[in-house]
Amino acid sequence: MSVAPPRHVGVILDGNGRWAAQRGLPRVAGHAAGEAAVLDVLEGALEAGIEWFTLFLFSTENWQRSADEVAFLMKFCDDLLLRRGHELVERGARLHVAGDLSDPRIPDSVRRRIEETRALTAHNTRLNLVIAFNYGARREIADAARVLAADVAAGRIQPGDVDETALAARLGVPEMPDADLIIRTSGESRLSNFLLWQAAYAELYFTEVLWPDFNRTHLAEAIADYQRRERRFGRVRESR
Ligand code: IPE
Ligand code: MG
Repeated sequence: MSVAPPRHVGVILDGNGRWAAQRGLPRVAGHAAGEAAVLDVLEGALEAGIEWFTLFLFSTENWQRSADEVAFLMKFCDDLLLRRGHELVERGARLHVAGDLSDPRIPDSVRRRIEETRALTAHNTRLNLVIAFNYGARREIADAARVLAADVAAGRIQPGDVDETALAARLGVPEMPDADLIIRTSGESRLSNFLLWQAAYAELYFTEVLWPDFNRTHLAEAIADYQRRERRFGRVRESR
C-alpha cells in the first residue's frame, strides 16, 4: 500500500559551521555553501509533491552570534532572494514568513526584499515555502496568546471559546497545516524552538549529514523513511 507523502515538511538546517571548520574555512563559508542545498531540496520538495515546506533560516537565538556572522546571514538572505527569487515564481512556489520581520535589527533592505518576494509569489499555489526568519516557536505561541487576550478583552471572542483552533488561527502563518515530518541535519537531535505547536504529532528525522552536503536525494530518503512509519495520533494500531 502506498503511503501519501508528508504534506508539511519542516527542516532545521544545521552544520554549516562544522562543514566550514572541517575545511579550515571561516563559518560564513559554510553558510554560503548551504545555498546549493537550499535550492536542491526545494527542487526535491517540488518533485515529491510536498505542499508546505518550512526552512528554519534564522532563529531568535541566532542574534547571539558574532556581529559579523549575523550581518553575513542577513545579507545572504537578501542576496539569495535577489538572485534566485524569480525561480520561486517560475516554480510556482509561494513565499510565506514565520517570525518577526518588524524587528529593528533586521536591515530594511532584507525586510523589503522579503516583502517584495512575498508579493511576487502571492498567487502561486504549487508549493508553500515558509522561511522561518527571526523565528522562535515559544514567541510565536506567546504572540498568538496575546492576540487572543486582546480579542477577549474587546469582546470578539468569549473566554470559553478559547481553544486549540482559536489559538492556531492566530499563529504566524495561520494557514500552515500541522508538520508531518521534521528533518534536522548534522547529528543534533533537538527541536530548538522550531514549530513547537505544529510539530505535536510530527515524525522526527535526524541525519548526520551536514547541511551544505544535504541534497534532494537525502530529502527523498527522509520522506521514504517517513512513509514506512506508522502514524497513530494516539490511537491504537490500525490493521492495513
Ligand atoms: C546552521 O548551521 C545555519 C543557520 C541556521 C544559521 P550552524 O551555523 O548552526 O552550523 P554549526 O552548528 O555551527 O555547525
Ligand atoms: Mg548549529
